[in-house]
Amino acid sequence: MLPQEIIRKKRDGGELLAEEIASIVRGIHDGSLSEGQVAAFAMAVFFRGMTTAERVALTLALMRSGAQLEWKSLALPGPVVDKHSSGGVGDKVSLMLAPIVAACGLFVPMISGRGLGHTGGTLDKLSAISGYETQPDIATFRKAVKEVGCAIIGQTDDLAPADRRLYATRDITATVESIPLITASILSKKLSEDIDGVVVDVKTGSGAFMPKLKDARNLARSLVDVCRKMKTKIVVLITDMEQPSGRAIGNAIEIRESIQFLKGKAPEDLETICMALAAHMVRLGGRARSAGQASKLVYEAVSKGEALKRLRAIICAQGGDDRIIDNPALLPRAAHVQEFRSRISGFVTRCDAKLLGLASNALGAGRTRLDDVVDPGVGLYLEKKIGDRVREGEVLCRIHWNDKQRLHDAAPLVEEAFEIKARPAKGRPLIHAVLEG
Ligand code: URA
Repeated sequence: MLPQEIIRKKRDGGELLAEEIASIVRGIHDGSLSEGQVAAFAMAVFFRGMTTAERVALTLALMRSGAQLEWKSLALPGPVVDKHSSGGVGDKVSLMLAPIVAACGLFVPMISGRGLGHTGGTLDKLSAISGYETQPDIATFRKAVKEVGCAIIGQTDDLAPADRRLYATRDITATVESIPLITASILSKKLSEDIDGVVVDVKTGSGAFMPKLKDARNLARSLVDVCRKMKTKIVVLITDMEQPSGRAIGNAIEIRESIQFLKGKAPEDLETICMALAAHMVRLGGRARSAGQASKLVYEAVSKGEALKRLRAIICAQGGDDRIIDNPALLPRAAHVQEFRSRISGFVTRCDAKLLGLASNALGAGRTRLDDVVDPGVGLYLEKKIGDRVREGEVLCRIHWNDKQRLHDAAPLVEEAFEIKARPAKGRPLIHAVLEG
């Protein structure tokens, strides 16, 4: 069938056959589909949606457009699992999660992204470590996974390449926010990693990609439905991103907070989310029979220092300077720190993740275009978060800055992000829901 006939069928609300979806994806990959046809296909799916069978077919077709990793030949003595996060502000969970889970005997070939928009990216954070190679060759990646238990690298050009073209077109045609397209995009990349199971952290709240809980639930259900059909184990946690995770927002500053976490000094919200995700990975990988046993294992991995050792090993295996573990002051630092103080006494009722993410970007910690250069030293450190009592003149946040104009742009966003009221606001749960496939 001609691509325009397949697009017409979807446009008119029909259910596409797996061969029709495969032919569209082939055309996206080999360039025989024009940009207009890719956009029209995405828009037709955006308005008409897809059945679970169509979502499975799209996931498989995107996955098969590129190379697939393979672990069987390494005879790894444990399950291979990974985690995906829909992205947020101050979301440094991967930096702790991968070493914790590896310390529990699982193997984690983590493929992460760079930040875009107001959200940060794990790779930008790791790039703040001198020498850390984010794009090693595949042999180095496999060796690190085998010997250390985990490696964290950037998206390679050959995993799900059709998704890259489809995503780029969606990005400029207002079709990113389509649950079937998001589902296939996320899972095609994760399943190309030849994993036994995946845990997904879908964020909801102001700083999330899906601010509304209803949309986050729909995405979570869609991910579970597709994985069930594909016989891949999945757990999806819907977690809160109304305010940033932890206290640090930026790159080097988030690496510092992650090292502190693995040394036993964890902000409570970050600990709750990270340890819940880790425990689900351990249970899903079959290393624990119950949630309680999994939780005990992940807490021991931190308290016995094994997770910190793994973080050091990850950094070494990828060429980074591991002296930062003992001496985090070796990480890049901003030249100046400005305190942002409260003008009144009361309780923090808003600490808006999106505005603080935008402020951090304005300082230079993130990018608005893919080719923007990131400043590893700048960022924000939150001294107060929602629910905290604050007195007039107390510091709410420290702004780590290098460029005066950038500070000028960021300061009003920080100001707007905080709200202080006489009474505390009603709290939001940190984990809204857990769905399992
Ligand atoms: N993340 C992805 O990888 N793909 C999407 O479509 C949205 C978020």
